[in-house]
Amino acid sequence: MKVIVVPNKDKMGAIGARIIAEDMKGRLFYKLGLATGSTPIPVYQELIRLNKEKKVDFSRVITFNLDEYVGIPGTHDQSYRYFMNKQLFDHVNIPKQNTNVPDGMAKNIPAHCADYESWMESVGGIDLQVLGIGGNGHIGFNEPGSSIASRTRQVKLTPETIRDNARFFAKAADVPKTAISMGIGTVLDAAKIVLFANGANKAAAIAAAIEGPVSVKCPASALQLHPDVTFVITKDAAANLTLKF
Ligand code: GLP
Repeated sequence: MKVIVVPNKDKMGAIGARIIAEDMKGRLFYKLGLATGSTPIPVYQELIRLNKEKKVDFSRVITFNLDEYVGIPGTHDQSYRYFMNKQLFDHVNIPKQNTNVPDGMAKNIPAHCADYESWMESVGGIDLQVLGIGGNGHIGFNEPGSSIASRTRQVKLTPETIRDNARFFAKAADVPKTAISMGIGTVLDAAKIVLFANGANKAAAIAAAIEGPVSVKCPASALQLHPDVTFVITKDAAANLTLKF
């Protein structure tokens, strides 16, 4: 496990985009796993800048997002599809048909989840998966207690996650109670994983993920089982680590 501690979120964005850009080099097609939340925004901004400068080409990139709320359409301003369009896809030369986000309005959710898994498999799996982390250690929407072998499925959100996400909705009651999320097993299938964290509110989850036991109590601790994981985290998010950087 590699841990890179940076002074602020701009540096986090610059380093994150550089890791992705380097990994993209020399590939005919690049399959990129993406995350939402406020944390990866600086990474996406830097990728947009590099794309405008013609240093990163998205024309042969295929993306798969980690998760989506159930019950809101992609046109809803709090859907993760809408977020991805606004934060990245609308600003780079990616063919829209190459962008995949689970469909929270799918009529048959189990069938849609199985399809989502087979789409990833049919392109040969994800080359690099971007992750954020929830205050309770969740990755994607794999809440504490999620199986390490879990695959893409419909999940229930914890009261803590609903509370954390309420700031984005008019009222807490509007926050969807379930989501579609890649599983921890799905995430662990990516060839390379880069997790970003910014802020003191992530310090406990980061310490548990990196230095704690592999435990369902902290879903991100499962990343210890993967051979190629990099954490790019700000100083305050690294504050609870016993190893000092
Ligand atoms: C949501 C997303 C996660 C994300 C988390 C943290 O729960 N499903 O993928 O990592 O929020 O969000 P933020 O980066 O805004 O703290």
